[in-house]
Amino acid sequence: MTTKDSKNIEVAVNTGTSFYFNEEDTLLIALEKQNIEVHYHCREGYCGACRTKLKSGSVEYTTDPLAFIDDDEILPCCCIPTGNIEIELY
Ligand code: FES
Repeated sequence: MTTKDSKNIEVAVNTGTSFYFNEEDTLLIALEKQNIEVHYHCREGYCGACRTKLKSGSVEYTTDPLAFIDDDEILPCCCIPTGNIEIELY
């Protein structure tokens, strides 16, 4: 088992759904696979359309986010959870 093993990372969404992040490329893709609707536009971290509140846990970015976000917000299009997270979709 490596530190990159993400099979047991749980993502809880304020819609009442939770699921395991299963090594998808980004959190946005993982949410879409669950049929959870997330606003998006660029999918590359610069438009800010996918802005989501991170209520607990932490993420790491796969590309440097350029959009302005608050300290408690993340851009699902370009990040992956590093452990269990709880998010709130707007
Ligand atoms: S979709 Fe543009 S920043 Fe995420």
